Amino acid sequence: MLAIIGGSGLTRLANLAEERREIVRTPYGQPSGPLTFGHLRRCPAIFIARHGDGHTIPPHEVNYRANVWALKQAGASCIVAIASVGGIRADLGPGSLVVPHQLIDYTWGRKSTFHEGGGGAVVHTDFTQPYDPELRRVLLAAAREAGQTVVDGGVYAATQGPRLETAAEIDRLERDGADIVGMTGMPEAVLARELELPYAAITVVSNHAAGRGESKLGIRFASLDEILCQTMERVRRIVEMICVSRE
Ligand code: HPA
Repeated sequence: MLAIIGGSGLTRLANLAEERREIVRTPYGQPSGPLTFGHLRRCPAIFIARHGDGHTIPPHEVNYRANVWALKQAGASCIVAIASVGGIRADLGPGSLVVPHQLIDYTWGRKSTFHEGGGGAVVHTDFTQPYDPELRRVLLAAAREAGQTVVDGGVYAATQGPRLETAAEIDRLERDGADIVGMTGMPEAVLARELELPYAAITVVSNHAAGRGESKLGIRFASLDEILCQTMERVRRIVEMICVSRE
């Protein structure tokens, strides 16, 4: 069963025919909100809003472990993450959709593994390819089928937040090879890998990153919401096609 984690601008999947909601407890605490079970076209799917139904949980306070664990326990076979990002590369302006193929983790202090405590064997998880290549192919095919242009590949820089970056920090991320920057990509991706859930992301560029393009002197939040709202409609159409192509 397909699981979708919705980010800023996507606290509900309007095209999900809802059947039930379930509040799940996990050994890692409470997920961000109830899991919504339903069908996208005829395909069963589960949805959770990463920041909570009312968008009240900031990126550094999301209980990523509880969210991923709850989805696995509920029968998810893969996770498609939706997240908004800032565009670092000049051609990735507001409204672009990017399916990243790599990431760099700059977050700190987050609970980023299931393998701790308990005195079990030390586990080192392979993370060479942080996004599942097959699921990425499915996403790209779904986007094509939905007639939506998406950028195939990009390096996602996961920053701690909740503040946005300085212009110099964005310069550093670019020197490191990052194309887009967001605050929620990690540890979500590695936790999914630890539970052997294929994971891939559709990222929505909501703004030029700090110091770039229209954000040369600052990031304007008003225009950010507007872009997200428009672009999420395109994301919904792609997500619907993922199910169709998996039938
Ligand atoms: N930086 C970090 N996270 C973000 C941004 C950004 O510019 N835009 C949306 N999420």
